[in-house]
Amino acid sequence: MMDMKTETWTAVAPVGLIIRQKDPNNLEMPFDQLSGFITPSELFYIRSHFPVPQLDPAAFRLSIRGAVWNELSLSYADIRAMHSRTGVATLECAGNSRVFLAPPVPGAQWELGAVGNAEWTGVPLSALLEIAGLADDVCDIVLQGADRGVPKEEPKPPGVISYARSIPRARATEPDVLIAYQMNGRDLTPDHGYPLRAIVPGHYGMSSVKWLTDIVATTRPFQGYWQTSDYGYWDDSEGIPVRRPLAEMKLKSQIARPRVYERLQPSRPYTIFGVAWAGDTDVTEIWISLDGGASWVQGDFVDPIRRHAWRRWKYDWITPAQPGRYTLLARATGADQRTQPDGHNPNFGSYVIDHPLPIEVFVAAL
Ligand code: MTE
Repeated sequence: MMDMKTETWTAVAPVGLIIRQKDPNNLEMPFDQLSGFITPSELFYIRSHFPVPQLDPAAFRLSIRGAVWNELSLSYADIRAMHSRTGVATLECAGNSRVFLAPPVPGAQWELGAVGNAEWTGVPLSALLEIAGLADDVCDIVLQGADRGVPKEEPKPPGVISYARSIPRARATEPDVLIAYQMNGRDLTPDHGYPLRAIVPGHYGMSSVKWLTDIVATTRPFQGYWQTSDYGYWDDSEGIPVRRPLAEMKLKSQIARPRVYERLQPSRPYTIFGVAWAGDTDVTEIWISLDGGASWVQGDFVDPIRRHAWRRWKYDWITPAQPGRYTLLARATGADQRTQPDGHNPNFGSYVIDHPLPIEVFVAAL
């Protein structure tokens, strides 16, 4: 078992991912393996819609165009030679924990492991946009990857499309949005976007476009497939339903240990261990329920607040003397005093599963 203070993965620990889909690989972390603040790259989930494009760094170009004063075409070496910035950011796939929805919904049946926390190094997108010079009326920055294919979900576009997402100009020009080439101090692996990917801290993972080849400034809101048909949600505008792109991650907490249906000894100390994160606030409190939500006790954070990075937490429990089935829940509160909702909001469809997730365990003498 892991020492919670250990920051790195020890050699004895099992490292490996769970297959949710093969070709393209969609793999999740066995979340009970949570240990350090940083998720080792080998344990970081992989979410790819199309086959991994093979990009030769020697021939690679990053194009910056659209409503800019100076169009740019940069080589990988150009990017590597620029002033870099390193930051820690949690990425959660918007469909993480989908398997907890009942009745079941279509899509990869992620459990708890489509989330990870890594250290990313690259060039701030703002630095590139500054060199290119944005026109006054630019509203969106589109990030396009080199991967291509036909999406499986309806409504299908007319043919082969690329993976592309936009972020609003105001977010794109903040210094923490990176065009990253390293993850946890090593060059990106092909699965995680080699040679370059975007990292948009605080957003669901879908904004962090991998295999990035094109940055396009637009003067009208971008309406691409991956933020309208997919990765969108229903909002309300003056009483009229409107479709909007998913963006910031919602406040969420997860229990890593114990795991579902784990058997625990009665009347013994057991440390419940997990993480909590948020996209647009800081996580300030963590509450645990040991009785399916009837009552709540406060847990302790292992990590300090660090914007856009998760915080590990723990709760030292003495398991009940009474054998039986117990439902554990975790619920985080943010600096904005908001807390996780009681249930899933159907306006988010099969995304944004941010309510406290029940972990049922058995207390029984072995
Ligand atoms: N970028 C491209 N080009 N193609 C993709 O399929 N998937 C997105 C995003 N960037 C994707 C992409 C989604 S949905 C997520 S959750 C994250 O990448 C996952 O990043 P990871 O595979 O490095 O964990």
